[in-house]
Amino acid sequence: MQIHDKQFKRYIDEAKIQARILEMGQVLTERMKNKNPIFLSILNGSFVLVADLVRACDFDAELSFVRLSSYDKLTSTGRVKMHYGLDDVDLENKDIILIEDIVDTGNTLEFFLPELQIKNPSSITIASLLLKPEVYQKKFPIDIVGFEIPNKFVVGYGLDYDGLGRTLRDIWQLDEKE
Ligand code: IMP
Repeated sequence: MQIHDKQFKRYIDEAKIQARILEMGQVLTERMKNKNPIFLSILNGSFVLVADLVRACDFDAELSFVRLSSYDKLTSTGRVKMHYGLDDVDLENKDIILIEDIVDTGNTLEFFLPELQIKNPSSITIASLLLKPEVYQKKFPIDIVGFEIPNKFVVGYGLDYDGLGRTLRDIWQLDEKE
């Protein structure tokens, strides 16, 4: 399949994604017993995941969004920008579930976690659908990971290549033959 100038091949299909999200929901439900946490979804990429994940969890929760960006087309710029964020969100003594679509270098989280910590939450749990362990070199743990994947660019299920590909139901991997 072609997006802009690149070819992608199907990598993780919708059924497998949905099955894994149910399991992630069960883990979160176990961890959040008797709590009403707040899901904090990092836009744009995690908008599809958060919609599925909140409904795979068996507890009531608040939901809020922040918008961060660091990627330029296929690569991380290393500079994270907060386009909008936490101004009107009360996180004091809250249990935060931070939702990322993918953790790659970890720069986004390294930038953002201190912004959360100064709001005095009671806990921060990080959940990401995808993790690229070969690239990730930060110290903080990603608590709940859907799939560990190799260091290859992927699109679909909320993830984009230069703005496109987010609406695909499966996850597609850059076809290196191209
Ligand atoms: P990090 O700051 O390097 O961990 O990257 C996090 C952000 O970069 C993610 O939330 C995505 O928006 C973007 N990103 C990283 N890897 C990919 C990829 O393979 N496909 C699409 N976006 C990616």
